[in-house]
Amino acid sequence: MALKVKFSTDKSPKTGTLVLVVSADGKWGTLAKELDKQTGGQLSKAAKAADFKGKRDADLQIAVPENTTLARIVLFGAGDPDDLDSYKLELIGGKIAGLLKGLKINSAAIYTDIVGKSSVDAAQTAAFIGSGARLRIYDFDQYKTKKKTPAKEKLASITVLTSAATAARKAYIDLEAIAVGVHMARDLVNEPANILTPPEFAARAKALSELGVKVQILSEKQMEKLGMGSLLSVGKGSIHPSSLAIMRWDGGPKSQKPVAFVGKGVTFDTGGISLKPGANMWDMKGDMGGAACVTGLMAAIAGRKAKANVIGVIGLVENMPDAKATRPGDVVTSMSGQTIAVLNTDAEGRLVLADALWYTQQKFKPQFMVNLATLTGAILVALGSEHAGLFSNNDELSERLHDLGQKTGEKVWRLPLAKEYDKMIDSDIADMKNIGGRFAGSITAAQFLQRHVNDVPWAHLDIAGTAMGSPKTAINQSWSSGWGVRLLDRLVAEHYEK
Ligand code: BES
Ligand code: ZN
Ligand code: ZN
Repeated sequence: MALKVKFSTDKSPKTGTLVLVVSADGKWGTLAKELDKQTGGQLSKAAKAADFKGKRDADLQIAVPENTTLARIVLFGAGDPDDLDSYKLELIGGKIAGLLKGLKINSAAIYTDIVGKSSVDAAQTAAFIGSGARLRIYDFDQYKTKKKTPAKEKLASITVLTSAATAARKAYIDLEAIAVGVHMARDLVNEPANILTPPEFAARAKALSELGVKVQILSEKQMEKLGMGSLLSVGKGSIHPSSLAIMRWDGGPKSQKPVAFVGKGVTFDTGGISLKPGANMWDMKGDMGGAACVTGLMAAIAGRKAKANVIGVIGLVENMPDAKATRPGDVVTSMSGQTIAVLNTDAEGRLVLADALWYTQQKFKPQFMVNLATLTGAILVALGSEHAGLFSNNDELSERLHDLGQKTGEKVWRLPLAKEYDKMIDSDIADMKNIGGRFAGSITAAQFLQRHVNDVPWAHLDIAGTAMGSPKTAINQSWSSGWGVRLLDRLVAEHYEK
């Protein structure tokens, strides 16, 4: 169950656990000061004794504080107030939620009026701390038949206490919609591939119509007609039919060209006939992380009723070995009319995206296209899990993504595209081959995508290192991160919703 986040101006909470967020400059907010007085200085004395100075993420718990009916007061450090921004506040909210979860309590209050000159006001502070907690509290436990945490030990709601409750509640509406999108992306990536088949994924995309998203599913037959021989070649060994899901949110003026997001949705990647080794192959259930992000993003965009026209396109296929599967060496023709020698059936993501990108560009003439894909193991070698790889034909779009990456914590690092790399995918017998050789594997994959993009501003995000299996953070403790939803929602909000 999703964490419920409420906002209140209550100045004297009476029961349960109360977290007081305090900054490192020694100044406490009104409620913190009042409670210190009420408890006969117990809070400040405890802080002094424990050397608690409000350093970021430091905490101090005071059980059954004197002269109150509270069960517990927790002092939580926000660090230097000048240093706080929206992402750091979300991390603080996440940390607090983790702490509360550990206490096995059902609900708690968090007082967030941090004193000091911070660039974020009281309402924003409260809303972002609430958002961090909301993002953090996430379980994917529907397949556990035993040992579920009893309801009363599960953190179900928090009340954020702030002098600016009305404004905070308003600011939180959008953040809640974004969190819904992030959790949806995490769910999709966590789902095992026997459940989340291409048709099941398409059905979940279709369900976004409840939010007002227009959803169209192209069948194999329709894709054949369009000439999508590249995408279709990937799913040939699967018993599940491939599809292309097109999601559309028309929140902007009719005259405005849409922005488009395109995702790789390989619901399982065995490698096909170029079969992967067995070790850790299970994690290829997450090879639809790009499509999951696009779907979660559309949920966020629709959930907060964004004033923009946004298209999401996801290519849904399963890559299996079979008598019907594509063989290494087979030549296929993409919708662009170009021919591809499939030298390695495990380099399948680019085959899916080639047709999805071409279709999106031709059909919607978007202002820009951003695609996301768990495309190459090589991006993990280059960047680990700290940054997603960014490849682009457009400096402005790249800079925006880089800047917002820093601001949301979903960071990207740009790598080069160049004709010398492009040459590496020339083929002897076809227009191109789908692998470039031993070196620069992430770049040659990006070059392959670029051959299916014309002049439209385009960015490719290689999220093989960030979509799943990345280190746990204060706002995510799950194997799947939901990476990209917050970044791309912000891209739309800050640059395309005027
Ligand atoms: N889905 C994989 C990439 C991947 C690897 C994602 C690790 C997440 C974690 C992709 O389809 C793939 O197999 N790529 C090959 C390309 C190679 C055959 C040129 C790779 O990276 O080894
Ligand atoms: Zn593969
Ligand atoms: Zn793959």
